[in-house]
This record gives sequence, C-alpha cells and structure tokens, in this order.
Amino acid sequence: MNRFEQSLAELRARLPEQPEFGIVLGSGLGPIAQQIENPSVIPYGEIPHMAVTTNEDHAGRFLAGRLSGRRVLCMQGRLHGYEGYDPETIVYPIRLMKLLGIRALLLTNAAGGMNPDFAPGDLMIIEDHLNFTGKSPLTGANMDELGPRFHDMTYAYDPALRELADQATADCGITLHHGVYVGVNGPQFETPAEIRAYRLLGGDAVGMSTVFEVIAAAHCGLPVLAISMITNMAAGMLPKPLSGAEVNETADQHGGTLQTLIRRILERLPGQTL
Ligand code: HPA
Repeated sequence: MNRFEQSLAELRARLPEQPEFGIVLGSGLGPIAQQIENPSVIPYGEIPHMAVTTNEDHAGRFLAGRLSGRRVLCMQGRLHGYEGYDPETIVYPIRLMKLLGIRALLLTNAAGGMNPDFAPGDLMIIEDHLNFTGKSPLTGANMDELGPRFHDMTYAYDPALRELADQATADCGITLHHGVYVGVNGPQFETPAEIRAYRLLGGDAVGMSTVFEVIAAAHCGLPVLAISMITNMAAGMLPKPLSGAEVNETADQHGGTLQTLIRRILERLPGQTL
C-alpha cells in the first residue's frame, strides 16, 4: 500500500458515510464545525502520514457528518507554510479528500482587506489569486495518477460555484464581495509597502493560506469555492498596527454570517451534476 492508500484505509474506517463535500475552516472559523450533526471526530494525528497543525487557533482534526443535510468532511484547522511545512505536505489532506471521492471543496480563510471598499467582517468570494509564496505544491515529480504535469488554473476557482454562492447570498441578505486573494508565506503580517504593491497588482485581500490547496485541487480536477473573511484591514490601510488577536476577534464576531452562507451554499449545491 502506498501512503495515500494507508491514510485512506484509516479515514474510510472512521467515516460514518461517504462525504460529498470537503470544507476547510480557516483561522478563527473553526466553530462552524459545531453545527455538524453527530460528527465523527478524527484528529489529524490519527491518520497515517498526515501532518498535525502546530497553530493553537486551529484544532487539527477532521469532522465528518451532516451539515444542512449534506454529507460533509470538514477540516477544522489547516496546515500553513509558516509552520515550516512544505507545500506538498500542506496539500496532502486535499488530495486525500479527492481520492476519498468528494465532489467539491469549500475553502474558507481569514484575510486582510486591501480593497478600500472592504470592512472587517465582510466576506469575499475569491475569483483568482496571486501566489506570492514563491512555491508550488506540484514542484518535483508529477503524480500522474492525480493530474497532468502542466495544468490549467483559468477556472481553478469554479465559475459555477461562484455563481451559486452569489445566489445563496442574495437569499440571506449578506454582502458578498468578489476579489483577488494574494497568498503569502507569513507568519509576519505584511509591510505597508508590500500592501501598496499588492494593491497595484490587483489584489483585494491578503492571507497566509489557500493558494497551495487551490493549486492542488485544480491539478486533480476538484472544483473549488473559496471564501475569505476580511478580519482586518491590511497593513497601512489604517493608521494602526495589526494583531493576531484582532483577526480572531473579528472571526469570532462574524463567524455566524459565514456559517449562514455556508449552509445556504450547501443547500443549493446540486445532487450529482458537479
Ligand atoms: N495579512 C495576512 N494574513 C492575514 C491577514 C493579513 O492582514 N489577516 C488575516 N490573515
């Protein structure tokens, strides 16, 4: 058995039913997982070959169960480059979920707002990204069984899923921005000069996750919907310093809005057509 098969064997043995959708919960957004009915809880450390998160704001476990009646497999906490993990390790659970048979992946993250029209607590559908980490999870030998050596990123953020998210927001009166996410390594927040540069290049929000996961999902043909919660205005946008505490406070305060949106999206996701 290769490492994926070993991980899958353990995961399958612990899952109550075959999940349809994968969900990754970002910094401070973990409490949404409490909405999952009768969840099976699987700490990452109990899956062979899975790395464990070192970030104290991230629980580091899979929760499997029903959310809005849909069968979901939720990652409460993700792995980041700033923890010292290489990009391939970070995307291992994304590939696992694909091999497990999920049909679409919903990613969430906390991000700093660079677009002056944004405010803390706002939500943004990611339309595209700028990968400023300088790295790719696909570096090295290609895994031909997962996808091609050179793969397309044009539709990495699935247009049909973005449209569905817009319809879901219209239902529940949430304001939803659309924009470009700039992925950086961190863990330091950006300098004001970096933020000015990213804005000039077309960035709307900046964060320390997501881009590797989206690259790996596109490689293996997994449709992605990604939503940022703007937890703070990015460095230099306001005359005050940034803090990790502010990120968590905003995520706590506005987590309910994201939760409502996720539920509406799940309700609207089509049965077998994706
Ligand atoms: N920069 C980078 N990552 C972040 C930020 C930010 O301002 N806010 C939340 N995650």
